[in-house]
Formats: sequence, C-alpha cells, structure tokens
Amino acid sequence: MNRVNSILKNEEYRRYVAQIEELESDRIFCHHDMDHFLDVARIGVIMAADEGIDIARSVIYAAALLHDIGRGEQYKDGTEHELASAAIAPFILEACGYNEEETDMIVTAIINHGNASVADSKDLTGILYRADKASRKCFMCDAIDKCHKSPEKLVMEIKY
Ligand SMILES: [Fe+2]
Ligand SMILES: [Fe+2]
Repeated sequence: MNRVNSILKNEEYRRYVAQIEELESDRIFCHHDMDHFLDVARIGVIMAADEGIDIARSVIYAAALLHDIGRGEQYKDGTEHELASAAIAPFILEACGYNEEETDMIVTAIINHGNASVADSKDLTGILYRADKASRKCFMCDAIDKCHKSPEKLVMEIKY
C-alpha cells in the first residue's frame, strides 16, 4: 500500500479522527474532518504546482492529513492543537514509511500552520498555511458573526 493510504488505514490515525468527530458533534464553526483534510491536501498540491514548489505529493498529503489531528487533545486538555498534532504525527509517519527528513519537514509545517509569518514561505510550511486558510468556506458560514477569526483571515471569496 502507498504511504498516503497507509495513513488513512492507520489505527491510531482513525482513532484520533473519530475522537475529533465526536468532540465536534455540536460545533457550529468549521469542523476538522476528512473533508477538511482532503481539501487542504488537494489545494496544497495545486498551489505547489502553480508556484513551482517541488515537494512530493505524498508529503503534502501527509502534512494535510495530520495537521489538525491533535484537535481532540485541545478540546480535552487545552493543549494548542498545532503542538498536539506535531507530537502525534511522527509516530504515524514512521509507521507509514516516511523518513526522518520528511517527518521533520512535515512537523515544522504542522507547528506553523497557524503562524501568519510563514504565509509567504515558498516551501511546505507556506503551502500548508495557505492551503489550510483557502480551504475554509466562510462565505457560506451561518456562524460567521460568532467566529473568532480576524476579518482578514475570513475567506469571503474563492480564488481559482
Ligand atoms: Fe489547525
Ligand atoms: Fe486545518
């Protein structure tokens, strides 16, 4: 099996995804579910191609699939989910055949996916940041008046 599909089949990964789904069942804001992870992965691949940034698709997908995986830990004990995700990701990446160099790159991107100072970086970190933001559909959101996002982070128009 290829590495991306190994992540999707990984038991620990599926347990975290299921836990997030349960903890977000009453959430009125954006969910951190498979739709979001795949949107980020696919947008990330398109961005990398458009911008001529040479990163393996399997690395972009891994970063996207894992970037919010610690969201459940944030709901449970308040750990920032970027840090919780970065702590969980290496075990799953190793089990799925990613090497140390790739894991370091993915973990750095995960830690910084909410850090606006990486927004223009021409690397995996910048791609994950931009793809994560671009994936949101604030223009169709019923909870927008209650959202904590600053106005410049709201996605009110799509880019295509
Ligand atoms: Fe996030
Ligand atoms: Fe996200």
